[in-house]
Amino acid sequence: MKVIEERKMNSENLFELASKYMPGGVSSPVRAYKPYPFFTASAKGSRIYDVDGREYIDYCLAYGPLVLGHGNEEVKEAVREQLEHGWLYGTPHEKEIELAKKIISNYPSVDLVRFVNTGSEATMAGIRLARGFKERDKIVKIEGGFHGAHDGVLVKAGSGATTHGIPDSIGVPADSVINTLQVPFNDPEALNNTLEKNSGDVAAVIIEPVMGNVGPIPPQDNYLHEVRKITSESDVLLILDEVITGFRLALGGAQEFYGVDADLTILGKIVGGGFPIGVLGGRKEIMELIAPSGGVYQAGTFSGNPVSITAGLKTIEIIEREGLGKLNEFGARMQTAISEILVDSGVEGCVSGVGSMFKIFFSPSGKEVRNYADALSCDKNKYLRFFHSMLSAGIFLPPSQFETNFISFAHTDADIERTIEVYKENLKHFRGR
Ligand SMILES: Cc1ncc(COP(=O)(O)O)c(C=O)c1O
Repeated sequence: MKVIEERKMNSENLFELASKYMPGGVSSPVRAYKPYPFFTASAKGSRIYDVDGREYIDYCLAYGPLVLGHGNEEVKEAVREQLEHGWLYGTPHEKEIELAKKIISNYPSVDLVRFVNTGSEATMAGIRLARGFKERDKIVKIEGGFHGAHDGVLVKAGSGATTHGIPDSIGVPADSVINTLQVPFNDPEALNNTLEKNSGDVAAVIIEPVMGNVGPIPPQDNYLHEVRKITSESDVLLILDEVITGFRLALGGAQEFYGVDADLTILGKIVGGGFPIGVLGGRKEIMELIAPSGGVYQAGTFSGNPVSITAGLKTIEIIEREGLGKLNEFGARMQTAISEILVDSGVEGCVSGVGSMFKIFFSPSGKEVRNYADALSCDKNKYLRFFHSMLSAGIFLPPSQFETNFISFAHTDADIERTIEVYKENLKHFRGR
């Protein structure tokens, strides 16, 4: 920090410098916003501090993994201790078994797990596994669903892809997505029709149980149960991508929260305690098809690395100890308060969310957002202006209409109250604009 000050580096000129060495000046597209993103100096608890000396209450929280907030001391201590024993072995180690057992005990649909390094890797492997198991090529995904940045799922993809207007990335060969079918979220009939039309050709349906990358958009009514029923009846695997919802909505993720089982489960983010991780889990008969026990190849130098596994184990231990009740209560309070403020201030918009995930949408006539098309109909430019107004007041929301806000264990009553006050103060300037 001191060195930066001496060189008079602030976010603006760091971004200028970064843009000389990295495309768009960032390591992941969703971090970029105009005129320039703030550069972080440090983060602790519910707060993130930029190099310009400003402090923010953080609701972006690195896009989901930091359920305990920044720099949790217990996780830090566990990682420090692990570092004394080494940080990468390239061999099996005992803590992998411990984390596997924790996951399996919380997710009854999971008998075996494969640890990888990111959610993207896990979905890529999951789709390959489903195709290998069913010996079919087609998959169905949800419009606006985001499962990482690999070829087969970069079609109408949410997150940074939608934010930056490239949901269908160039550079993806047409052949790579020819087998990716799309249906809208919250529309069981569309799924049923697509599976009927492609009967015998579809290996799996991959779905975020709560759309997190254009939302959050929760499943309506009985949607997930319908999806489960339709996939079972069509003899198609159901892959639930719980990279965001896993260990957040409940210890058993959306599967516990909504009472639905997957054939394959994808985890990431929280399960690595803020360090890189992805997990593919599922029924034994399917999972045993992964190399070396079966013929679906998957491998990785850093997979199962002891630091991520240690941080994940400690994080889950803390969630088990503390429970998710307070987090969900804060989420509900935030949603109710923002809804009321919208009404009182006469601003067209709505609030969407579940558990500790929430988001304000500037939707036409305040219409509820149920799927990707609804999310796209919202005023994303107004959201960006709103994002900046919140940032100026010390509240860091995700810099996109299409990303979820998260709450952590480190957020306090006072943080929530302060945030609601700032929403109230700022939203009144957004009427009709
Ligand atoms: C639902 C979902 N799946 C997969 C991914 C990809 O995970 P990662 O960024 O760890 O590759 C993300 C990332 O945000 C996600 O939200």
